[in-house]
Amino acid sequence: MWGMIATWRMALEGVTKGAGMLEQGADAGDAVEAAIREVEDFPYYKSVGYGGLPNEDMEVELDAAYMDGDTLDVGAVAAIRDYANPVSIARRLSREKVNSVLVGEGAERFAHKEGFERKNMLTDRAKAFYRKRKKEDEQELRPYAGHDTVGMVCLDCKGKMTAATSTSGLFMKKKGRVGDSPIVGSGFYADSKVGGASATGLGEDLMKGCISYEIVRLMKEGLHPQEACERAVGLLDRELKERRGKAGDLSLIAMNNKGEWGVATNIQGFSFAVASWGEEPKVYLVTPGEDSRCTFEEASQEWMEDYMRTRMAPVEE
Ligand code: GLY
Repeated sequence: MWGMIATWRMALEGVTKGAGMLEQGADAGDAVEAAIREVEDFPYYKSVGYGGLPNEDMEVELDAAYMDGDTLDVGAVAAIRDYANPVSIARRLSREKVNSVLVGEGAERFAHKEGFERKNMLTDRAKAFYRKRKKEDEQELRPYAGHDTVGMVCLDCKGKMTAATSTSGLFMKKKGRVGDSPIVGSGFYADSKVGGASATGLGEDLMKGCISYEIVRLMKEGLHPQEACERAVGLLDRELKERRGKAGDLSLIAMNNKGEWGVATNIQGFSFAVASWGEEPKVYLVTPGEDSRCTFEEASQEWMEDYMRTRMAPVEE
């Protein structure tokens, strides 16, 4: 028995790679790292890794995290620049007893010392998006339409669970801004005795609910991952609206240690990728409904083709 679930269509190639590894008996840490690296390396995903959109100073600052659900080891980097695969640095940090969450220059110094690949992560395409946004003078920072953080939860044949995330955060964020993705309990959580969860959306709001931990806590109480996701997302969405007038984008994926999975969102357009011992890698589209209930259906061939076409279309400045 094995499984892997991830936020957004952009994770499909990574999930396919990870699923192939898990089928061969790979470790959940190796599979999740390889899967996230696949997304980080693809230049047309503008919210993760190479090609990620820059902060207001035109610098690409990346956040990533890794959690081992057997040992509860956590490693994370935030606002790291010029390294190709932040998730691998996060995983390496998870083996440290102390100093396992590093930011900015400290994270870069660690990565250099450990021999991780340096790379200029700012592409010409990302620069074009930056110039376009400057002209449009948009004020409100929002997660990018259609994709943002890649977050994954993985279960291997030995019952080990892991979670990992990687993101360039909000486009035009302030230098040094950190979202939910490298924050344990908010952007991700994994406990092999229960399951794991990971988030995508507006970090500032996701953090207010420690939402990944909350989903794992609900699964520990016996809820199916689908119920746990719907309950946690519904509650946080309501609380935010009641107390603050509005809620940012909140989308979650989860899997328990039986390989059962669930998702929930408060937005239209959330997609996710999933694979397991009984299911080929597939992309589903989620529709939020009444009482936080969510329905989902497999993405059509047309949707999949259109997705790639729009991701790779020239940037009109
Ligand atoms: N969810 C990604 C971020 O807010 O940075």
